[in-house]
Amino acid sequence: MPNDTATLLQNLPKLSDTLAELTEPELNDYAETVAKGITHIDNAQDLGQFRASVTGKKSALTNWSKQMGKLDAQQKKQVGGWLHAVRTRINEALSNRQTELETEALNAKLASETIDVTLPAKGQQKGQLHPVTMTARRMQQFFKQAGFNVATGPEVESDYYNFEALNIPAHHPARAMHDTFYFDAHYLLRTHTSPVQIRTMQAGKPPIRIICPGRVYRNDSDQTHSPMFHQLEGLMVTEKSTFAELKGLILAFLQAFFAKELEVRFRPSFFPFTEPSAEVDILSDSGKWLEVMGCGMVHPKVLQNCGIDPNEYTGFAFGMGIERFAMLYYGIEDLRLFFQNDVRFLRQFG
Ligand code: DAH
Repeated sequence: MPNDTATLLQNLPKLSDTLAELTEPELNDYAETVAKGITHIDNAQDLGQFRASVTGKKSALTNWSKQMGKLDAQQKKQVGGWLHAVRTRINEALSNRQTELETEALNAKLASETIDVTLPAKGQQKGQLHPVTMTARRMQQFFKQAGFNVATGPEVESDYYNFEALNIPAHHPARAMHDTFYFDAHYLLRTHTSPVQIRTMQAGKPPIRIICPGRVYRNDSDQTHSPMFHQLEGLMVTEKSTFAELKGLILAFLQAFFAKELEVRFRPSFFPFTEPSAEVDILSDSGKWLEVMGCGMVHPKVLQNCGIDPNEYTGFAFGMGIERFAMLYYGIEDLRLFFQNDVRFLRQFG
């Protein structure tokens, strides 16, 4: 193997150890053979070893140089010149080869590190808000601009706040309609956002203008019912809130939300916590009336339960399902799609 340094060394011409016996052609031949051998060395480590063997302390060349002192002046000049030529030739071959090996190594490194700019990129997935979140924000945006603040309350509620204080006493038939998840006799998952009305009125004095978006729970599940869904509650209590004001606010909200002129109908209804009460319908493109929310004037008993004098203050309230608005706005027929988290569905709302 020509690039094996040991073999290269063995194949060098065997010259006399004694300087006086050497001739110029012999030395030139030696230098050429070494230089040629060097061109076959293929790595920096072997090259270093070879350099030590042919120019180092124990090399033939160094051995000859050491004997220079024994020569007379004239021989010294001549033989010294020959040896110098040999060393120069070998050093030149060594440094050329070293440069070549370094260049090769650099090229190999560059080749291994190249970036193929034609490869397809990894791609970035952009997230987006859930359609129910976007709908809730759209709904809130209107009321915030109308001067309402956002209030929140606990999802684990007491029977008192969820029913009692809202004028729904035990055994009231309205309770049966709520399909309540109970923890025990006193605690339950709130079935509507109306308890936040009570908490807000108990905590502060009128004037009150709040909306309460949040999760509510009912033991019911089909195409239009989910055990967890979202409501947005509204409450306004002042010295002179009227049903006319409620109607105007709701009409403005519905037209802003659906971004078009709408036929809206207030249909007399019943809620224990409002009197009078109404349900609000909008006329759909297909000519059908669609129910979108409940509302009414806050029942005097409810105001009293919260320490507000019904002779001094009046209020109105309203409550609506956020998913219902999302379904109407986006034209979705099955409520369950919102909760299956199928990205093929969710991606359509970007
Ligand atoms: N809490 C009612 C429900 O969940 C909705 C509702 C109706 C809220 C009338 C109100 C209201 O504030 O005035 O069905």
